[in-house]
Amino acid sequence: MTQRPTILFHLSDIHFGLEDTLALDWVERCIAEEKPAAICITGDLTMRARHREFTAACRWIAALGPPVTVEVGNHDMPYFNLIERFVDPYRRFRAIESLVEKQLDLPGLAIVPLKTATRAQWRFPWSNGWVTARALRETLAALDALPAGKRAIVTAHHPLTERDPKGKRLTINGNQAMAELARRKVLAVLSGHVHDAFDLTQQTAAGPLRMIGAGTLSKRIRSSPPSFNLLSVGDAGIAVTVRNLEAVPTPAMQIDQVPENALPPRQPEEPVAPVATVPAVDPPVH
Ligand SMILES: [Fe+2]
Ligand SMILES: [Fe+2]
Repeated sequence: MTQRPTILFHLSDIHFGLEDTLALDWVERCIAEEKPAAICITGDLTMRARHREFTAACRWIAALGPPVTVEVGNHDMPYFNLIERFVDPYRRFRAIESLVEKQLDLPGLAIVPLKTATRAQWRFPWSNGWVTARALRETLAALDALPAGKRAIVTAHHPLTERDPKGKRLTINGNQAMAELARRKVLAVLSGHVHDAFDLTQQTAAGPLRMIGAGTLSKRIRSSPPSFNLLSVGDAGIAVTVRNLEAVPTPAMQIDQVPENALPPRQPEEPVAPVATVPAVDPPVH
């Protein structure tokens, strides 16, 4: 007998402090009406990890009905207070952790987190992803502890793509992480960070791995309007719909390559309009 699909809402990069209130109100209504089995928020809850931004995030999450998971994003660590960032980077984020699930155990499906944000790195920018050995070990241990036959989705803030087509390093240890997750046959890795949606399959040393990215619900858009992903997880796998207020079809919302960050793509240079010049005329001599 076929099971009814499990419906997940995959939200990301709300960036409280610069959130899109119209989009958030709409998402809240969708959650109330459609009652997904769970809501996965893949990081960057706040803009600058200010206390008031976390307060707004807590208030919004606490009012949602379904279970929620949240990954820590690079914007969720103190930005202005470097001492706190080094000494206790997740202190402010802990207010969120008390409201949400670290890992979710749904019927036939587990949601397992993978931490990719770090307080500091040996390179700039620190905002890029890094799957540390410890973070990967914890995620793999959680996956290996699942009962046989239980399917799993992994949630992370950064896409795991290790290098862009030009060879620039994006997420450190991304290749190793993707291969280990492919070896364990996870259904997909959900992520955010780049503020555009995507649905790509990455070939790894251990087979293919599906990577699903959600766009942003903030005003900090990259190349697409605010959106979230509706995931329908059934026997045949995951069907993704990129929901948005402008009714843009899903394929048009999804980018076909993972960019480095959330900056808008560079526009081709505007042609410079010729400036009319007026020949200098000597003033008449009287
Ligand atoms: Fe972001
Ligand atoms: Fe980010």
